[in-house]
Amino acid sequence: MREKMPPESVDLTVTSPPYDNLRDYRGYAFRFEAVAEGLFRVTKKGGVVVWVVGDKVIKGGRTLTSFRQGLFFQQAGFQMHDVMIYQKKNTPFMRSNAYTNCYEFMFVLSKGAPATFHPLKTKTARNGYEMLVHDKRADGVNKKNLRELKTEKTKTNIWQYAVGLGGTTSDKIAFTHPAVFPEKLALDQIRSWSNPGDLVFDPMCGSGTTCKMAMLSGRNWIGVDISEEYAELARRRMQESAAKTDRSMS
Ligand SMILES: C[S@@+](CC[C@H](N)C(=O)[O-])C[C@H]1O[C@@H](n2cnc3c(N)ncnc32)[C@H](O)[C@@H]1O
Repeated sequence: MREKMPPESVDLTVTSPPYDNLRDYRGYAFRFEAVAEGLFRVTKKGGVVVWVVGDKVIKGGRTLTSFRQGLFFQQAGFQMHDVMIYQKKNTPFMRSNAYTNCYEFMFVLSKGAPATFHPLKTKTARNGYEMLVHDKRADGVNKKNLRELKTEKTKTNIWQYAVGLGGTTSDKIAFTHPAVFPEKLALDQIRSWSNPGDLVFDPMCGSGTTCKMAMLSGRNWIGVDISEEYAELARRRMQESAAKTDRSMS
């Protein structure tokens, strides 16, 4: 008998579906609507799902499956809290009649308002002191004060990552899977929307990237994949990573 995960038990899901059957997952069926509804059921109130997705080009046009999925998530009860962009730093030239695609979406879906948000920061371009306008008036008379510039600001919602060996991950074993996303992407999302001790879930975990980064950042985790081969790959990758962490601590 199959046991269901308890309702409202997951704080954060970071996952990427087999979009448009772009990759060959050996013919496994992927029922998107059932997955979306299942995610809504297991997500806690205030919990978040980060859905990393792109579109295939079929007969010269982009499928927009991602958009349809976004709309279905809303129908299933999620709020589309943000539409973020995962930009790939190094992408091969793909189409002769269009610009090279270098991004995927990261839909940030929440069950009500997100309970947790730890915004990642980036350094500002300028720092030190500057005469800054304050008390801005409708009559056009602005007062200026010498003020200290902020040294950091909240990142934008476009995140850039190098891809390939050394970028996506340094774990050679992960590349036996055809569609690994960057470890840093998973870690940045985990740090943004969860706290240590929270439960992080990936229902299509592939090589186990989300689970690995959840483990390394002190979260609890559950990873599932329909392919026993990929589930085994994720298990081995996690074991190797845990052993490396133990060695570096001793
Ligand atoms: C884009 S990959 C995920 C890769 C993963 N994020 C990583 O970094 O390795 C999608 C995964 O979904 C799995 N999958 C496909 N259909 C599934 C289903 N119905 N249920 C669970 N997993 C499924 C595939 O086997 C594949 O490993």
